[in-house]
Amino acid sequence: MDYNLPPVWTQLQQHEVFPTFDHDERARYNFLSNLNRFIATTVAPATKVAYDRRVESEFVATHGRSFQNRLELQEAMQHEPLYQTWAALRRCTMEMRQQNGRAATLRQAHELAAKVENLNRDNDKLILTPNFVQPPYLEHVDNHLMPGSYRTAYFDKDVSNAANYDSGLFVTSGGLLGSLTDGGGKAIAHWVKEMYPDFKPKRILDLGAGLGHNTLPLAQAFPDAEVYAIDASEPFLRYGAARAKALGIENVWFVQMNAENMAAFTERSFDWVQSTMFLHETGGHAIHRITKEINRVLAKGGLTLHIEQPPYTADMSFYEQFMRDWDAYNNAEPFWGFLHDLDPRDLMQEAGVAAENFIQVYVRAINDLDTAQTDATMQEDYGRTPRWHVFGGWKR
Ligand SMILES: C[S@@+](CC[C@H](N)C(=O)[O-])C[C@H]1O[C@@H](n2cnc3c(N)ncnc32)[C@H](O)[C@@H]1O
Repeated sequence: MDYNLPPVWTQLQQHEVFPTFDHDERARYNFLSNLNRFIATTVAPATKVAYDRRVESEFVATHGRSFQNRLELQEAMQHEPLYQTWAALRRCTMEMRQQNGRAATLRQAHELAAKVENLNRDNDKLILTPNFVQPPYLEHVDNHLMPGSYRTAYFDKDVSNAANYDSGLFVTSGGLLGSLTDGGGKAIAHWVKEMYPDFKPKRILDLGAGLGHNTLPLAQAFPDAEVYAIDASEPFLRYGAARAKALGIENVWFVQMNAENMAAFTERSFDWVQSTMFLHETGGHAIHRITKEINRVLAKGGLTLHIEQPPYTADMSFYEQFMRDWDAYNNAEPFWGFLHDLDPRDLMQEAGVAAENFIQVYVRAINDLDTAQTDATMQEDYGRTPRWHVFGGWKR
C-alpha cells in the first residue's frame, strides 16, 4: 500500500532568520504533518461515506426531501461521530502546530529579533508606519488559531509570531507548499510567464503579503520589476524584509499599509496587483474598499490575480461547501464563508476588470519537495489541492 507520506519538516530551507528547533520539536512537527495527511486522506473520505450512507438518508427519511443548503447539512453532520472525529482532529492538529511553533519561537524571541534587526539595519526596503491602526477584523481575531495572530509583538521589534508562521505552515499543508513555503507564488509566476510571455510588469503589488512567502517568487521571476509587498503586520514585515535580504532578493519593498486605503500609491501605478490567500481574511465592507483600491492603483492594460479557494457555486455540492466551510467555524476564519459565497466576477468588476477580460483558472502547483503524493489524493485533500484556484483579469 502506498502511504503517501509527506516530506520531512527538515527539508524546509533554513535561511538566516529561520528559528531553530530541537529534536522533539522537529519530531512533533513531522508527526503533526503526517497526522494531517492521514486526516485528509483517510478520515475525510470516511466522513463522506458516513454522510452518504447515514446522514443524508436519515435526513430524507425525516423530512421527505434532501438538503436545500449547506447550513441544513451542517446541522445534521454535527451529530455524526465520524465528522466529529475528523473535525476534532483537525482542530487539535492546528492547535498543536501553533503551540509547538510558539514554544520554540518564544524561547528564542530575543535572538530572532536581534538577527532580524541586524539584517534590517539600513534596509531601505522596510517601510513601517508609526501608530498604524489595525483593521478591526485583524485586531480581534487570532487567525487560524495563532495566538496573537499577525498583529502581536510581545516586545519592541519582536518577530516571534512571524517565525512561528514561517516554520509551521509546512505542517498544515503537509509540505505541499515547497521548501520555502512559496508554492503559490511560484505557480502563479510560472503560469503568468507561460500564458503571457510578452507581459513584462515593471511594478508589482502583492496585497496582504504577510512575510512575503509568495511575493519573493514574483520578484525572482521578474528581477527588473519593483515589487511592493504590503501588509498590516509590523512583525511579519520586519521578518519578511530580513528573510528576503537573507535570501539575496533585493527588488521587494515591505510596506506597512492597509489595502483598503493605499493612498501612498498613485493612480494606475502598478502593472500587476496580486494577492495570495489574503481576501478571505478581510471583511464584508473591507473587501469592496480593497477591490476599488485595486482598480485605482492598477494601470490600464494591467493584470490583477487572486489566489483563493474556489467559491461555493451552484455546481459545488452542499457537502463539499460544508466541508470547505469548516475553517469559518473552527479555525478562526470568520470571513471565510462570506468570501466564498461572493461571485469573483463581481469583485473583479469592481477592480476594473470587465466581464470579457475576467479570468478564472486552476494553476498547476509547483513543489520542489518530494511530496510522494498523487494528484488524485490531493483532490480529496480539502483546502490543499495541487492546483491553485485563481481569479482576476486584465484591465483594458
Ligand atoms: C493568510 S495571510 C497570507 C499571507 C501571504 N499572502 C501568503 O501567501 O503567505 C493574510 C495576510 O493578510 C494581511 N492582511 C489582512 N487584511 C489586511 C489589510 N486590510 N491590509 C493589509 N494587510 C492585510 C494579514 O496581516 C496577513 O499577513
